[in-house]
Amino acid sequence: MKLTIEDVRSRFIKHFGGETGNVYSSPGRINLIGEHTDYNNGFVFPGAVTQGIIAEVKPNGTRTVDAYSIDLKDRAQFSLDDDKGPSATWARYIYGVCREMMALGVPVEGFNTAFAGDVPLGAGMSSSAALESTYAFAINDLWGENKIDRMELARVGQRTEHKYVGVNCGIMDQAISCLGKKGALLRLDCRSGEYEYFPWNPKGYQLVLVNSCVKHELVGSPYNERRLQCEHVAEVIGKKHPEVKSLRDATYEMLDEVKGEITETEYNRAHYVIGEVVRVLTVCDALQKDDYETVGQMMYETHHGLSKEYEVSCEELDFLNDIAKEEGVTGSRIMGGGFGGCTINLIADELVPNFKKVVVEKFFAKYGKKPIIIDVVIGDGARKLC
Ligand code: GLA
Repeated sequence: MKLTIEDVRSRFIKHFGGETGNVYSSPGRINLIGEHTDYNNGFVFPGAVTQGIIAEVKPNGTRTVDAYSIDLKDRAQFSLDDDKGPSATWARYIYGVCREMMALGVPVEGFNTAFAGDVPLGAGMSSSAALESTYAFAINDLWGENKIDRMELARVGQRTEHKYVGVNCGIMDQAISCLGKKGALLRLDCRSGEYEYFPWNPKGYQLVLVNSCVKHELVGSPYNERRLQCEHVAEVIGKKHPEVKSLRDATYEMLDEVKGEITETEYNRAHYVIGEVVRVLTVCDALQKDDYETVGQMMYETHHGLSKEYEVSCEELDFLNDIAKEEGVTGSRIMGGGFGGCTINLIADELVPNFKKVVVEKFFAKYGKKPIIIDVVIGDGARKLC
């Protein structure tokens, strides 16, 4: 069921008394292609979804934030002036955003807030970025005169992940949550910060997510290790080719030159990333020509790389990818950070009903649980609802 303002408002009133505040929302995301390229300064190609976080926020005239998570039925309080912050991870996202907005000079004050979300947790659809963007946008609106631009709000969310949660993520999730536009994908150059919207209006195709329900958690996952491996290879290549500052600048030839100086694992990681940076651009070109076969082929190549070279897949996701191939799906791959979560599938309209049926049956027969099918609708980024 779609989450509504009323679902959040009624809870806010129950927990904080009669007077209501402003309501803000930010979305989760899909990513058509460009996985693990953001922190390598490459390109990504995400779109915001219509699922997201909704939060009611009301200044309370103190220095304390009093927050209630409707989904977790958990309440946390923290002072804006406390250097340590709360211990619950969900509350640390809010705390981090407050502190980072304060660091930008925004005179944040205490507030009461209740929030809920309909982005499936652990599905690789960036529920945490949706949470960060919601509060960054709200604080900018309430105390920052909306002076901070959306890209900078995204960086506030990213710094929150780095400094308060311990995930050294790239900028993709927060950027699309802040910058998303209904009906459009965003091609973002993660080095320059330049971006361009591409209308997403595939003729005769649909995007469908299949959530394996294997919970993906980047906190404590080998995500940070992947990033370090990439940075190390870039550094080694950079000694021979000073123009190479990150894997975005590297080529397969350069990688081969340093093969003896890095581990086989590092070689594989970098090999995946170098290919992926190029695949994003190939997909953008193909889309402009309505060439969905090429888009799909690139998606399968990405899956292969994420599974065999980057090693962020799992048995269930590989199984979902195999089913997609068997059923004639045009393109399919793991989406997001990996280690669980969803596959994203580009499917010809006429194959959609049968694919949905077969994928659920086959997955259930093997794992005894049903995957969840999500139809992708591209929605708007961070906004005030009322
Ligand atoms: C997570 C991170 C992003 C990005 C993806 C993988 O979603 O938050 O920055 O690195 O994984 O593409």
